[in-house]
Amino acid sequence: MRLLAHISDLHFGRENQKIVYALREDLIGRAPDVVVVSGDFTQRARVSQYLKARRFLDSLPFRIIAIPGNHDIPLFDLFRRIFFPLQRYKKYISQDLNPLYADDEIVICALNTARSFAWKEGRISVEQISYLGNKLCSYPEDRFKIVVTHHPFIPPPDNPAIKLVGRSGLALDAIDQCKADLLLAGHLHLDYSGDVRGFYLKRKRSVISVQAGTAVSVRTRNEPNAYNLIKIIQNRIDIQVRIWNGSAFLDELLTSYEKRGDEWVHLA
Ligand SMILES: [Fe+2]
Ligand SMILES: [Fe+2]
Repeated sequence: MRLLAHISDLHFGRENQKIVYALREDLIGRAPDVVVVSGDFTQRARVSQYLKARRFLDSLPFRIIAIPGNHDIPLFDLFRRIFFPLQRYKKYISQDLNPLYADDEIVICALNTARSFAWKEGRISVEQISYLGNKLCSYPEDRFKIVVTHHPFIPPPDNPAIKLVGRSGLALDAIDQCKADLLLAGHLHLDYSGDVRGFYLKRKRSVISVQAGTAVSVRTRNEPNAYNLIKIIQNRIDIQVRIWNGSAFLDELLTSYEKRGDEWVHLA
């Protein structure tokens, strides 16, 4: 069994400090094996915002796998945006933009999908797809394989036209070939999950995609601040959304999937 905390879209600079403290306490209470941060650490990629993000990460006694989001690239500072887009991310968060985590149960391959030119939209490069395939396929099939991006693979149920991560179809080919089962992302500040086949109608393989809300920022979109606690037990995934109720993080929706044959079945 592995327990992941999937947090996203912290947006330091537009954070609620009370929720930052509460998130730290909540994570310490839950003791995840790994904390996955799926991007947007800062609001405007400013040094002061990165310093706050760094302090938060330093306060967590856990293994952290993180990638940047579009907000971690400067928007208005065009010189920095074009020539040094993730220089501050590398200085304050991590040099590694495509980090990998592996133990004897799970493998997590995270990919930076933030880009300077299409600032809001993200994509996976051809090189990253080949990196993903090489890394994931190098681990045995009994490992539970997870891919992390900032930009989503599937849209929210009520907004199917929303822009998804670029080259998602090619990335899913590698994901299928290497038998990854779980995709984690953020960016939309909304919690939901589903089988990729619900959106990519021609795809044959069952893969579960999970979106996290914004953990601590005031930029909520009609949903409270939240993060996901994801329990992985062989052929079962339990996604427990922990929502902020104004004074603490509490269990909200629990969504479970069980693999039956080749199919991830949503348990009612
Ligand atoms: Fe965001
Ligand atoms: Fe974003």
